[in-house]
Amino acid sequence: MNILTIETTCDETAAAVVTEKLDVLGSMVASQEKVHEKFGGVVPEIASRSHLENIVPVIDETLRRAGISPVDLDAVAVANTPGLAGSLLVGLTAAKTLCVALRKPLIAVNHLQAHIYACKVAFKEDIFPCIGLIVSGGHSSLYRCAGPIDFTLLGGTIDDAAGEAFDKVAAMLGLPYPGGPSIQKAALNGNPKKFRFPRPLLDEPDRPAFSFSGLKTAVRYHLVGPGKDVDPAEAAAKLSPQEIADIAASFQEAVVDCLVGKAVQAVKRQAMEQTGMRTLCIGGGVAANSRFRAKMTEMSQDAAKKNGFRLFIAPPALCTDNAVMGAIAVERFRAGLFEPLDLDVFPGLVRN
Ligand code: KG4
Ligand code: ZN
Repeated sequence: MNILTIETTCDETAAAVVTEKLDVLGSMVASQEKVHEKFGGVVPEIASRSHLENIVPVIDETLRRAGISPVDLDAVAVANTPGLAGSLLVGLTAAKTLCVALRKPLIAVNHLQAHIYACKVAFKEDIFPCIGLIVSGGHSSLYRCAGPIDFTLLGGTIDDAAGEAFDKVAAMLGLPYPGGPSIQKAALNGNPKKFRFPRPLLDEPDRPAFSFSGLKTAVRYHLVGPGKDVDPAEAAAKLSPQEIADIAASFQEAVVDCLVGKAVQAVKRQAMEQTGMRTLCIGGGVAANSRFRAKMTEMSQDAAKKNGFRLFIAPPALCTDNAVMGAIAVERFRAGLFEPLDLDVFPGLVRN
């Protein structure tokens, strides 16, 4: 079985051909990073226009890499939720067009569920049931994943997503977009203990929720002081590279502590409730962060030894947006979950 998966939820145009055994025959990601860099963030209208330019070449190249022709496909899958409306529409329209032309079934992919499924594709292990943690530019959420098509939201961010905080703090520090990799790089030379930024909600262990807005504001106040209408980037421009590195490292450490702490709390809660969930799967762009990966791995080692706890973090290339994780469509194919051709996009509403 060959499924073409299409991903255009935000600013990457991606496609992949995956098999029933989750082998990746071919894949491609066309990043729009350079297009959005000068704006310091994704401009939705420009993103959808870039998808329009990229979608056909990306699908063509993916099929070429896979060494198959369109008639060899058994289904076409596309991420239709959540994401930017204009971006989602380009992928969905391409998928529908292929389905009509090839007379193949259409499969809907939930982008967040796919981020978790990246662990399954990468490690080919039986990851379900598991707790899923998605940390991306738009989401920071914990899920109870009973099976590949049975996800229940436990809780998410009450304000900004972790990646959004990375991007906004990077802009304040005058570091380039996307902020996550820039902060990670700057932090390498910094002291993570130099400044003590807040770790919101960690003192509420029973609450599966995140908050990064206050942390972001704490960095702003650190740069310009409270209540001052000054551009933090102007203030940051007067700092030495070492000072910037120390702020980046201290901020990164605070985000990492929140993510690791909340993941650990969620796992402990499952243990207390005896749900039998001993696996934690993590995906999303922020999960590519090397400090996060190291601390999460370190934290899990004790639990792994004591009670067979398993941790899977998607490999960095499958953390940031890609179409390989759309292999979750294989599960929907098996379950006979196909979509009508009037399928719509659901930018905010997570439907399936
Ligand atoms: O999953 P993703 O590619 O797109 C969304 O679904 O949002 O995540 C993008 C986010 C951006 O905010 C980016 O700054 C962040 O992931 N990111 C990182 C790293 N690489 C990407 N954040 C921290 N450290 C990284 N190495
Ligand atoms: Zn994503």
